[in-house]
Amino acid sequence: MMRVFPSLTLSFLALILPLGAAEPADTNYDEAKVPGYTLPELETGSRTHWEKTRRAEVMALLEKHVYGKTPEAAVEITAQLLEGPTKVFDGIAVRRQVKLTFTPKTQPDRALGIEVLLYTPANRKEKSPAFLGLNFSGNQSVHPDPGIRMSPAGGKARGIYEDRWQVEMLLKRGYGLVTAHRDDIDPDNYRNDFGDGPHPLFYTEGQTKPAEEGWGSIGAWAWALSQTRKWLEKDELIDAQRLAVIGHSRLGKTALWAGAQDQNFAMVVSNNSGSGGAALYRRCYGERIHHMLKPVGYWFCRNHARYAMREAEMPVDQHMLLAAIAPRGLYVASATEDRWADPKGEFLALKAAEPAYALYDLAGLPATAWPPPNQPVSSARLGYHLRAGKHQVTAFDWKRYLDFADKVMAK
Ligand code: GCU
Repeated sequence: MMRVFPSLTLSFLALILPLGAAEPADTNYDEAKVPGYTLPELETGSRTHWEKTRRAEVMALLEKHVYGKTPEAAVEITAQLLEGPTKVFDGIAVRRQVKLTFTPKTQPDRALGIEVLLYTPANRKEKSPAFLGLNFSGNQSVHPDPGIRMSPAGGKARGIYEDRWQVEMLLKRGYGLVTAHRDDIDPDNYRNDFGDGPHPLFYTEGQTKPAEEGWGSIGAWAWALSQTRKWLEKDELIDAQRLAVIGHSRLGKTALWAGAQDQNFAMVVSNNSGSGGAALYRRCYGERIHHMLKPVGYWFCRNHARYAMREAEMPVDQHMLLAAIAPRGLYVASATEDRWADPKGEFLALKAAEPAYALYDLAGLPATAWPPPNQPVSSARLGYHLRAGKHQVTAFDWKRYLDFADKVMAK
């Protein structure tokens, strides 16, 4: 998506400089200047140790130092069918639109409603596997289909991100798509005061913002993904056992955190998620914590800010987030021109997560060195590619995700 800089400065600079040049002056893009670093050990131990002890410790570290803790209170989910089922795209698919209302059982007088758009392949004997992911700009942005309701939180024009979603390609390959607008869940705004979105649902008397180690917006978005997955368990058309959670950029960070926390997702896809996503913090290449603080610090817990310019002191790094997804399907994708997201750091994090997969006798990526552009590599449960081009999701990316999903979701 957009880099977060004042738009006036950005449009002025765009006249005279290539877009990437508007990034902060201290951004390092020189591989020779990547500091020497040692990643915190995964300390997987045996499979039993990992599952019973260490994995939970890793998750607690990620909560405390990066994303904040998500409230565990049980949530009641009610669904109201707003539209459908309607046959669309020459009868190959079914569209439904549903309002989901989340009510914490501990606070039955508080609720959050979100609108979810669902497309599923038509005329199937069995339930379909599906991709679940948040969109940046409203449900109407994912396809020009005039029947899509405008998201309550607004967003951009109908179909503007059609290329990014490839809805009909997915449906033809036998997959459904479930999506909701991030701003409908928790408004993505640098003035975010945590007075909206799911945060207030869980406040105690007099509380107005999350605790120092409480969840930020990534936590809130990930929570909604997990609640939506739970609701899908009862769906008649989608097989909730075969769900991939997917996201691009900040929503890729979100998909990873959702997939790490909710072990019922069968597969996780990180598209160009970068800093705070798949990239290793300790490389200090491209975007860093101190760059995120002012514009988007609210994505993380407040405690995360302590590590601005002190990445090496963090007791975690992002390979641990990826390891927490084992043994499920995990695909990380980078793009050559997306230096801000540290493409190589994304690859290295995935490599460093391999020991967690080895506990399940699952092979690592069939590549020891960073693969050249447009040469995807994958094993049974791990996938990676570096696409030539920009920070974006393209048909090329989707084809790889679908091929990988065919392996992971095979019955
Ligand atoms: C900004 C931000 C990134 C983020 C991206 C996006 O560039 O700095 O961390 O991934 O926005 O979400 O598009």
